[in-house]
Amino acid sequence: MKTSRAKTSGALLAFTLFMGATLWARADDDRRGPPLPLLPKYQQECTSCHIAYPPGMLPAESWRRLMTGLPHHFGADASLDAASVKQLSTWLAANAGTNRRIQEAPSEDRITRSSWFTRKHDEVSTATWKRPAVKSAANCSACHAQADQGDFNEHNVRIPR
Ligand code: HEC
Ligand code: HEC
Repeated sequence: MKTSRAKTSGALLAFTLFMGATLWARADDDRRGPPLPLLPKYQQECTSCHIAYPPGMLPAESWRRLMTGLPHHFGADASLDAASVKQLSTWLAANAGTNRRIQEAPSEDRITRSSWFTRKHDEVSTATWKRPAVKSAANCSACHAQADQGDFNEHNVRIPR
């Protein structure tokens, strides 16, 4: 059997991207376990205004509240039909964060109000958060180049000027 080197490295790249995309999608942000892909419906319905926030970054209680308040979602109308709400809620509940630092529902059910988030971002100054290119801490992809693929690795962080 003939094997092409290009084919092999292509497959390896695809695998690496796949792993990156699913890093934070896991239930407990444990990077060692098997990956969990994002539900296509989630990609479809929850990424028109911001990135697909990884389910593992909020506890089930927060996702439940968010999913029951979609018509009044942080000043936006993010309402969906009942069947979609049900499908997404089930998936989010099943894949919500469960480890110790995720357990407590943050204020406003915002990832950006979690204590771990504050800790991980303690080097980011108030002025930096307010830069026009950042605008909001919720705008993860301003600094995390691969955020839309679920990759928040510190090596891929670039703070815009
Ligand atoms: C119509 C636009 C829109 C859609 C669709 C939408 N959102 Fe949002 N979402 C927002 C806005 C606006 C914010 C606040 C962003 C900010 O503070 O900068 C937000 C914030 C959030 C946050 C909190 C981010 C933080 O600060 O940590 C979560 C979690 C979230 N959305 C989940 C979802 C989910 C789940 C869906 C799909 C069911 C969804 N959103 C669909 C507009 C939307
Ligand atoms: C203003 C730029 C900026 C924004 C916006 C931002 N981050 Fe970060 N993030 C950073 C910096 C800087 C670090 C620290 C990197 C380091 O430790 O060297 C970091 C670290 C992290 C880490 C830890 C990475 C690791 O490898 O330990 C996570 C997880 C993370 N951010 C998630 C998020 C999420 C989720 C959002 C959006 C809700 C977000 N960040 C928004 C700049 C940002």
